[in-house]
Amino acid sequence: MRIDNNKARFLKKYEQRLKKVLLVGFIAGIVICFLLGSIVSRIRIGGLEKKYKEQIAELEKKNEQLSNESQDGGTGEKAASGADTLSSAEDGWSLVLINEVHPLDTEYRPELAEIVEGKFVDQRIVDDLSEMLQDAVGEGMDMYICSAYRDYEEQRQVFNTTMVDWINQGKSPLEAYEETKKSVAVPGTSEHASGLALDIASTQYGELDEKQAETAEAKWLAENCWKYGFILRYPPEKSAVTGIVFEPWHYRYVGKDVAKEIKEKDITLEEYLSQ
Ligand code: DAL
Ligand code: ZN
Repeated sequence: MRIDNNKARFLKKYEQRLKKVLLVGFIAGIVICFLLGSIVSRIRIGGLEKKYKEQIAELEKKNEQLSNESQDGGTGEKAASGADTLSSAEDGWSLVLINEVHPLDTEYRPELAEIVEGKFVDQRIVDDLSEMLQDAVGEGMDMYICSAYRDYEEQRQVFNTTMVDWINQGKSPLEAYEETKKSVAVPGTSEHASGLALDIASTQYGELDEKQAETAEAKWLAENCWKYGFILRYPPEKSAVTGIVFEPWHYRYVGKDVAKEIKEKDITLEEYLSQ
C-alpha cells in the first residue's frame, strides 16, 4: 500500500514536470517559429525590394533613352523628323507614323484648336472632324470625345496611373510596365501628342474597353470615319503590327484618300506606309 502511494506521488510529480516541459517547449516553439518567420520574410522582402529597385532603375534608363530618341526622332542627330514633317505645310503631315519605334519629338507643339470644351486637336483637322461629329449626331449617334491632344507630361501621367493600377494588382514594376504599354503609348510615342488622334466613346457606354466596339456609336464610326479622313488606328487582330491592343475608340486623321485605301484594304497605318 505504502509502495503504491509512493508510486502514485512519483507519477503525479512526473506528470506535472512533463506538463511543464511540454508547455515551455510549446511556447519556445511558437517564439522560435515567429522569429524564424520574421527573419525569412525580411530576407524575402529585402530580396524583392532589391529586385524592384533594379527593375525601376532599368525602366528609368529605358525612359531616358526614349526621351533622347524622342527629341531627335530616333536618328541620333537633329535630322528631319516626324515633327518637321508635321509642322510643314507640304503634303505628308497627316501621314507621320508615331509608334514605339517612331517616337515624336517631345518639343513638338501642334497649332491647336478647341473642338469641344477643354479638348484640342490640330487645327488642320477641325473641319473634317466637326463634319464627322455632326453627321454622327444627324444619324442618331450620341458620342463624346474622352481625350484629344495630350502633351508629353499628360501622357506620362496617364502611363504612370495605369502602371500603378497594374502594380496594385500584384505585378512587379517591370511586368506592370510591359502590361501598360500594350494599351497606353510610352510617353514620347503617343499619337495624341500630334493633335491628330482622339478617343471617342458612346455616351451611354463610356468605358474604354472592348465592349465599346459593340455600341452603335463605335460601329458607326468604324464604318464611316474614312469618309472624313479618319482611321480606326488600333484594329482587332493587328496588335502584332501596331504594338497596341484593340482600341475601338482611338481615331487618327490621315486624310481622305489614304483613309479610304486603308479601309478598303483593311490594313493599318504601319502596313500602308510600308507598301
Ligand atoms: N492609347 C494610345 C495607344 C495612346 O496612349 O496613345
Ligand atoms: Zn487614344
